Amino acid sequence: MRWFLGIFVCISCVYARHEQYDQSALFSVKAKDAEQINYFNSLDYPMDIWLYATQERNGLVLVPKGYVQQFQDELYSKGIEFVIEVENIKDSLELEDKLRADKARSRAMRSDNDLLVNFDDIYNLTEVNNYLKKIAEAYPDVATLVSGGKSFEGRDINYLKISNSNFQNASKPIIFVESLLHAREWVTLPTTLYAIEKLVVNVTDQDLIDDFDWIIMPVANPDGYEFSHDGGRFWRKNRRNGILPGDVCLGVDLNRNFDVFYGLGSSNNVCTEIYHGTAPFSEPESQVIRDILHSDDRIEMFLDLHSFGNLILYGWGTGELPENAFSLHVGGIQMATAINEVKEDWNLNYRVGNAALVLYPASGTAMDYGLKAGVPLSYTYELPGLRNFGSTILGFLVDPEFIKPSAVQTWEGIKEGAYFLRSIRRNLA
Ligand SMILES: *[C@@H]1O[C@H](CO)[C@@H](O)[C@H](O)[C@H]1NC(C)=O
Ligand SMILES: *[C@@H]1O[C@H](CO)[C@@H](O)[C@H](O)[C@H]1NC(C)=O
Ligand SMILES: *[C@@H]1O[C@H](CO)[C@@H](O)[C@H](O)[C@H]1NC(C)=O
Ligand SMILES: [Zn+2]
Repeated sequence: MRWFLGIFVCISCVYARHEQYDQSALFSVKAKDAEQINYFNSLDYPMDIWLYATQERNGLVLVPKGYVQQFQDELYSKGIEFVIEVENIKDSLELEDKLRADKARSRAMRSDNDLLVNFDDIYNLTEVNNYLKKIAEAYPDVATLVSGGKSFEGRDINYLKISNSNFQNASKPIIFVESLLHAREWVTLPTTLYAIEKLVVNVTDQDLIDDFDWIIMPVANPDGYEFSHDGGRFWRKNRRNGILPGDVCLGVDLNRNFDVFYGLGSSNNVCTEIYHGTAPFSEPESQVIRDILHSDDRIEMFLDLHSFGNLILYGWGTGELPENAFSLHVGGIQMATAINEVKEDWNLNYRVGNAALVLYPASGTAMDYGLKAGVPLSYTYELPGLRNFGSTILGFLVDPEFIKPSAVQTWEGIKEGAYFLRSIRRNLA
């Protein structure tokens, strides 16, 4: 009897998975002028904009069950062209689960060196933390595990300090790379894990460790990330609750919560994906990044990894250009070129530019705060995600086949960024 009950429970739990996304439809929207772009990009709750529309590129928006017809009518009435890319996004989520499960099965049959990551699945938070700990234990002379503080729900926000001179060589610049500030952007994680592998475990470019110190934070938003595995795959924000009575909506967009142009390009509606919080740095997760950025004058490059869009962006998020915009642009182009040279032919070329001009104005971002905190080369990466996935667009979903290539290609960009930093320092010296 018990056994049957067990089966029943398990089946119902499999079926309950992704239920909240059942019959949510993914729309691709072609906005043809400034008015239409503006209309699309300021859509409010309950739509979830995956990709902002620009002159060159269609926007993507996930529309929940119950709003699909209404949204179509609205687009018709405004004369905006659209295509429904995915009628029911739950099908795509199930495809992702299936592909990941297949890989997990094949992995279980191999005995791997556990200091090397298997880049065929996305590690969950426990696995990432175990990995960081293992690396720090195996390479105590190079890697130090640090908890930068606790998340809203009390999880450690961990990072590795990587240095062959114990962070004591004052003439070395520090490069700070961070991923998963936005929980659902899973494909960014393998890149930071690969960076650790290339800087600590399998070092093939010794100068990257001789000439630089590194701070690598794979999961900047651990509560949101955990939730994206076991609560809602498309969760973006942190898990701050108690803002509205009964928690009708919760979570702060951490990448709008930094104290830089706060509130100018974000929302004060907690039900949106770009809710900026109750005040600048109201959230422990953004405080941790702030504190790192201020912890050492030697931090000269900051890379905040997001997905998706094939972009390398720099400040300011308002569209004004910082004093060193020229260097930022040249560095961005060099990084993008390095990635474009190794990417697959089917993938889009990376584009480089000011975040507001290329994408859409946004305020309170980690990237802008890096610049404000005195880190000259501060960038946001938007990794690729426009590849077809079954009958759909990949977006935030991960194709296990693309995990390793994505990590390797992005690393080429980061490496090139380090070399660019070194070259401009030489010119200053
Ligand atoms: C994380 O992965 C481990 C297996 O490595 C598993 O035991 C654990 O349940 C997973 N946690 C979540 C929240 O999915
Ligand atoms: C180390 O990196 C090199 C170059 O990327 C690669 O060819 C080699 O297979 C890696 N070694 C291991 C053990 O992964
Ligand atoms: C400090 O780092 C610089 C840059 O890599 C290097 O040239 C120098 O030899 C290092 N100094 C010491 C004392 O290790
Ligand atoms: Zn993001």
